Amino acid sequence: MIVVGSGARHLEDEIRALGGELIEVEIRKFPDGEKYVRVLGSGEEATVVQSTFAPQDEKIIELLLIADALRERGVERLRAVVPYFAYSRQDRVTKEGEPVSVRAVMRALGLYYDELYVFDLHNPETLKFFPGKAVNLSPARAIAEYFAERLGEGIVLAPDRGALERAAAVAEKLGLEYSHFEKRRISPTEVQMRPVDVDVKGRNVLIVDDIISTGGTMIKAANLLREMGAEKVFVAATHGVFAEGAIGRVSRAVDELAVTNTIPTPVSRISIVPDVLAL
Ligand code: R5P
Repeated sequence: MIVVGSGARHLEDEIRALGGELIEVEIRKFPDGEKYVRVLGSGEEATVVQSTFAPQDEKIIELLLIADALRERGVERLRAVVPYFAYSRQDRVTKEGEPVSVRAVMRALGLYYDELYVFDLHNPETLKFFPGKAVNLSPARAIAEYFAERLGEGIVLAPDRGALERAAAVAEKLGLEYSHFEKRRISPTEVQMRPVDVDVKGRNVLIVDDIISTGGTMIKAANLLREMGAEKVFVAATHGVFAEGAIGRVSRAVDELAVTNTIPTPVSRISIVPDVLAL
């Protein structure tokens, strides 16, 4: 039994097409802006799917309201599937007086949910803040399947050392070589990168990251690969948190840009729904 919040409406048709049983839920706003939720079904177990992209706060509130309604209706086992987890980047205190925001959200969800599933969390360590079972799912299968044919005998690259595991997971599914760039962030909109130590001349390349925001990282990497003689340059990311104009800028710099549908965007061509239904 699956309940879909407003942050997962874009996944509804595919969930249904793949055999997921959806409970109807009414979601609207009171005149003062507060959320109204009514769940029109019940059972022993339920999975609430809700991605918390902007506006984030109201999607988090929905997760709590839907869970409260389901518990009220007697649901005993509750799972939250949160493909994009808001506040995940605020995972440490940098100035005295700040919260660890991801901890606050995880603990709040833990008041209602027994299990939490997320995709490619910014810092997987922070799952420890959720009091129940918490799992960080990988989009590697979905990304690998999407790019398998386009990439051929190509190579998979991570834009920095921290993203290597992600690139490795995709490469291993395709039986391809992988490596990483060295990246240094100079400002929120500017990065410095050193070329990779593998020969990309005449080869197709897929660069894989967790997030594309301004697109600066991917554009810099793509330009370096062109200088190094790469054939086709493809880029993929789990979460398309695109800043204004970023989709156009990245698309112009590469042969194809595709992200997963944890966030609905015009280039969310890679689906994580089969992974959600496999849970
Ligand atoms: C950084 O640690 C992340 O993994 C991404 O590389 C970063 O968020 C991408 O940002 P942008 O698209 O603005 O370069």
